[in-house]
Amino acid sequence: MDLTTSYLGLTLRNPIIASASPLCAELHMLRRLEDAGAAAVVLPSLFEEQLRHEAVLTDKMTNVGAESSPEATSYFSAAVTYNAGPERYLDLIARTRAALDIPVIASLNGSTVAGWVDHARLIEQAGASALELNIYRIVSGATTTGREAEAECVALVRAVRGCIAIPLAVKLHPHFSAFGELAYALDGAGADGLVLFNRLYQPDIDLVRLRWHNDVALSSPRETRLGLLWLSMLSGRLPHASLAASTGVEDAEEVIRYLLAGADAVMTTSALLRHGPEHLRGMLKRLRDWMEARDFASVAAMRGLLRDRHPDAEAQQRHDYVDTLTGYRGPYVSGDVGGAWPAT
Ligand SMILES: Cc1cc2nc3c(=O)[nH]c(=O)nc-3n(C[C@H](O)[C@H](O)[C@H](O)COP(=O)(O)O)c2cc1C
Repeated sequence: MDLTTSYLGLTLRNPIIASASPLCAELHMLRRLEDAGAAAVVLPSLFEEQLRHEAVLTDKMTNVGAESSPEATSYFSAAVTYNAGPERYLDLIARTRAALDIPVIASLNGSTVAGWVDHARLIEQAGASALELNIYRIVSGATTTGREAEAECVALVRAVRGCIAIPLAVKLHPHFSAFGELAYALDGAGADGLVLFNRLYQPDIDLVRLRWHNDVALSSPRETRLGLLWLSMLSGRLPHASLAASTGVEDAEEVIRYLLAGADAVMTTSALLRHGPEHLRGMLKRLRDWMEARDFASVAAMRGLLRDRHPDAEAQQRHDYVDTLTGYRGPYVSGDVGGAWPAT
């Protein structure tokens, strides 16, 4: 059975990628992920805030060092040691690449076009197989338009693309008004792949303490549905970029659904944090079993089988939406609404 797939122009031995999380921060865990069958790993992100902070600190230390006493000079060397944040990251890339046979995808996480994007070049030099750019931004101000927010995403991708030659993936949340057009624009700006979708981390209200609280709630398979919808609409339609599915992949069933919708690769984090790296082995076995039972000899044969082929996807989606709502039946709804809704 042929499980290979192509993502970002890289040939993967199967479609399952371990996405960015602290599980991918240590070499021994990365080895376990590879042994369990991961086709590629995404390292946890280097955040724009980390890089900015470091730049500010280095600048301060440089000025202090230039005009002061020997104590200040030793302070300056402490600043160099502080640089171990991003330095360690580059070291992790190099060590992981040397230790693993599978592709190692590094991750930069930010939202603005600024000096920090230069780090993409360092990441490439450290040996990353590809770079995933996670654009995480909640545009809450009253003065930024949707068009501006999208243009800034595209500019950011273009800026990073301009720094590196390795494949570039862009990971986004779905909250854009016209995601299809944005996807095309990102493809045009040089993205080799899109990761659909990033999860929005939403705080909750603690009713006992009467305050906000932030925690990481791991995902559930119900969260695959928005990704399935967009993958099905974008699959086969972008000129260049490949597509990775992300969010809600607990087991093989979600992998299968995402592949059928049109994903080239499928990522998982929460399931691995819940069950450990070896969970991948079972997922792959169940993927193979399902394919065998359904007579699929390869991932290529099933990928995109259920993608949206309607020439007017928007009209199709509108039709499905109305159909779904009007088709609801439940203990208090008989469905006999006397033709109040138009037939679809
Ligand atoms: C604890 C934790 C840490 C994460 N760290 C990162 C990160 O550093 N960079 C990133 O792009 N995504 C990060 N993510 C997001 C995941 O890569 C993934 O996109 C998200 O969890 C949805 O996938 P899932 O449903 O399989 O968990 C993190 C997720 C979790 C739960």
